[in-house]
Amino acid sequence: MLPTTAGLDDERAERTVPPPAVEEHPLPRLAGTPLPGRLAAEAPGWTREVDVVVVGSGVAGLTAALECRERMGPDSLVMVVTKDVVAAGSTRWAQGGIASVQAEGDTVAEHVTDTLVAGAGLCEPAAVEVLVSEGPAEVATLVERGTQFDLDASGQLALTREGGHHRNRIAHAGGDATGAEIERALVASVRTDPGIEIVEQALVLDLLPGRTEDGAPAVAGITLHVLGEGTRQGVGAVRARAVVLATGGIGQIYAVTTNPPVSTGDGVAAALRAGARLRDVEFIQFHPTVLFLGTGARGQLPLVSEAVRGEGGLLVNSAGERFMVGQHELAELAPRDVVAKAIMKEMAREGTDHVYVDGRMLGEETWRVRFPTILHSCRVAGIDPVTDLIPVAPAAHYFCGGVETDLDGATNLPGLYACGEVASSGVHGANRLASNSLLEGLVFAVRIAEALARDLPPLREPLEDAREAWLLDPAVVPALQRTMSRDCGGLRNATGLERAAGGLDRLGGRRTTEAGLAAWEATNLFCVAAAVLSSARQREESRGAHWRDDFGERRESWQRHLVVQADGDQLVHRLTPVGTETAAETAAEESAR
Ligand code: SIN
Repeated sequence: MLPTTAGLDDERAERTVPPPAVEEHPLPRLAGTPLPGRLAAEAPGWTREVDVVVVGSGVAGLTAALECRERMGPDSLVMVVTKDVVAAGSTRWAQGGIASVQAEGDTVAEHVTDTLVAGAGLCEPAAVEVLVSEGPAEVATLVERGTQFDLDASGQLALTREGGHHRNRIAHAGGDATGAEIERALVASVRTDPGIEIVEQALVLDLLPGRTEDGAPAVAGITLHVLGEGTRQGVGAVRARAVVLATGGIGQIYAVTTNPPVSTGDGVAAALRAGARLRDVEFIQFHPTVLFLGTGARGQLPLVSEAVRGEGGLLVNSAGERFMVGQHELAELAPRDVVAKAIMKEMAREGTDHVYVDGRMLGEETWRVRFPTILHSCRVAGIDPVTDLIPVAPAAHYFCGGVETDLDGATNLPGLYACGEVASSGVHGANRLASNSLLEGLVFAVRIAEALARDLPPLREPLEDAREAWLLDPAVVPALQRTMSRDCGGLRNATGLERAAGGLDRLGGRRTTEAGLAAWEATNLFCVAAAVLSSARQREESRGAHWRDDFGERRESWQRHLVVQADGDQLVHRLTPVGTETAAETAAEESAR
């Protein structure tokens, strides 16, 4: 029996949105590099009106579009705007799978605990509860929409484990091609819905400023640039009652990442410029096992999924010795931050730039059936995992923070919603639990659609946009990426962070008047890097994916979210409380660490 969606709507309706955090502490301002108020671009040459514009076409964006249409009725108009072709985002690169409570004996409470433990004290418990309890039914909806997960001999979902999970609860497809299969099914569903208009090769530039009836800042739509021919060519404006950001990650602020080239943080940057609150953006998860292709390798590198370790693969150093044993009760399957740090320490101890995954014991058949994508990437690089050790090193993988949202995906700006990697819904805390990300994209996309079906904002009149506009010279991007990798990467300290701040300051002075994709992306990378770097400078502790060797311990006084927001051309930071954890959760977390 595959999972079903029966009873989900009733359960969900009973949950309420918790009151917003009120107790906020401003932090001293850091002298920072000025940021643009908006991207310089020609005035919109065309305008379109829709009910909902979804920016991004991964699991979160496509689910949001489909669910809005289902819940808002047959006359609703939804537009999906995507920078490349519709299937080009991060979702299709997801290997390991999608975590949810499916196995006999597994429970919501256990998945919640594993998520909270991985999140190192910064998860919002109410958001985690929503994610885990609503997740199984959303996996069932994916099956109904045509996703073909791998099944075991009895026709049940085949489930594996990844780091931080105490149970087998990761469903996968095509062996290690889970994201690609989910994306295939969702793209097919979206393409058959006449109420969803897909605009490809379209970069969102900025959010259109609007006002609520009470005069508060709000979002009235987007401006975008469409590469193409016909009526939608060039810069345009889409007025919408709701803008749903689902633009994915920001991995391209680093020199080496698992993220595709499109992951330039366009949604995060546009939200920041519009006045949205970003939360916990210093927590960039470095995936421990990314194929090491030499010190000169740059850009997107192939992942060696944690599922390889979930199936029995081991981590060894250059002497062939396991080094995770004794470091954590789960050894190679410890939460991702623990494994990444242990690898970095082992590399420093040995004076090497990589360690190895040993998957030789899995045998050729398992490699072929279970990990065809990784097998192919390794063989292309001249490594045969059936007979060879696989060289790996940590690389930037996942943005744990993002645009702050409530449990319905709403941001502080009326009319603006966010889901998936671009959002900080509160489920990941300081370190995401493996394979919770596709689940987050699904669950919170559905909740946005439900909220919009209940209470669709009015179409707002865009205001005149007086924000200062400029663009960064795209030639600075490699230097920006090197700076972030060297000084604001997996291991940080004040000296490096100050050096990086000086570096960004200098790069920020290199501007261009030539608008175009390269300059827009470069400026977005710059805005995002400034937010990440300044937040990393502020957080004086080590927690989850934020590791500082000058503040090596977790500090009680920093058990707070860090919010960053634009104030004019500068960034301001404030601390906000984390939802109250129960004593049981705190105890479970402490004993696991
Ligand atoms: C992996 O397969 O190791 C990555 C999955 C994830 O990022 O959750």
